[in-house]
Amino acid sequence: MAYFCQNILKIAASSIASQSNSARFAAYRLASTAAPSYQHIIVEKQGAKTNVGVITLNRPKALNALCDALMREVSTALDELELDKDVGAVVITGSEKAFAAGADIKEMVNNTFSKVYGGNFLNHWNRVSQCKKPVIAAVNGYALGGGCELAMMCDIILAGENAKFGQPEIAIGTIPGAGGTQRLIRSVGKSKAMEMCLTGSPITAQEAEKLGLVSRVLPPKELVAEAVKMGEKIASHSKLIVAMCKESVSQAYETTLQEGLLFEKRTFHTTFATVDRKEGMTAFAEKRPPNFTDS
Ligand code: CAA
Repeated sequence: MAYFCQNILKIAASSIASQSNSARFAAYRLASTAAPSYQHIIVEKQGAKTNVGVITLNRPKALNALCDALMREVSTALDELELDKDVGAVVITGSEKAFAAGADIKEMVNNTFSKVYGGNFLNHWNRVSQCKKPVIAAVNGYALGGGCELAMMCDIILAGENAKFGQPEIAIGTIPGAGGTQRLIRSVGKSKAMEMCLTGSPITAQEAEKLGLVSRVLPPKELVAEAVKMGEKIASHSKLIVAMCKESVSQAYETTLQEGLLFEKRTFHTTFATVDRKEGMTAFAEKRPPNFTDS
């Protein structure tokens, strides 16, 4: 936390005023020599209590194609936000035109099997799905290939009305390589996942909502503010219990029902070893808001 406290500067009021919910949100951008300097992303803390980390992918000329340097910056930003005790949730977003148009094809074009296999190419992208804090993807525009996969590594996807989700790798002679063939099927079912991966054709935000890939569709200009609002709501709970809850829901996604149910029960029991469980229930009984201490 001290790290962030030393290294944040308030963004000019004019920049904040351009946000649709400007009155509600304060925004701070990491901007000192000691903070990591980012070339392809912008990292801020937003929300009335500046407790929501916002990572904005920022390679507009390449439609936020996910080059190696960009994804390494995302990993570093997540490391920092995870260490920041004030931050209760993280939002990853892009521009109105593109969340991300996929892995960087131009960077990959001369790769060889021995290089990608030997170097475990794209393995470090898993950092996103390993974040202990909840991560919300706010997707406007294209979320294609690695962009769709990046969104699916997040815990919640909110989509702008203009969003397009797809796995078009088949059209460039490869297959999804960052979870597309595995995570998509868990959200949209086998038939639709096969259709998307084998034809390469994208689906709209509205279809994605109907299929359960995204939880809500919003006007593009309101999307990030709504994601931050959701992050603030999550951050208002005990961060300790939120992490346990996220871990438990993730088990359903990643293991069998029996294993998941056992994990949930053990984790539920474990909440009874925390101060915040006692505080939450006591506050309810005393008809007052809880004062969580993340312990
Ligand atoms: N990699 C590198 N550069 C990309 C890119 C990508 N994935 N997507 C777009 N760009 C670049 C374009 O080359 C172009 O650059 P120049 O101006 O230097 O030519 C710039 O971004 C703008 O793109 P377009 O001119 O193509 O914009 P458009 O509006 O006409 O089309 C689009 C938009 C439909 C998204 C189109 O850009 C496109 O099809 N992009 C590729 C999508 C794709 O195949 N993604 C999968 C990548 S592979 C992958 O992700 C593997 C994995 O599983 C991890």
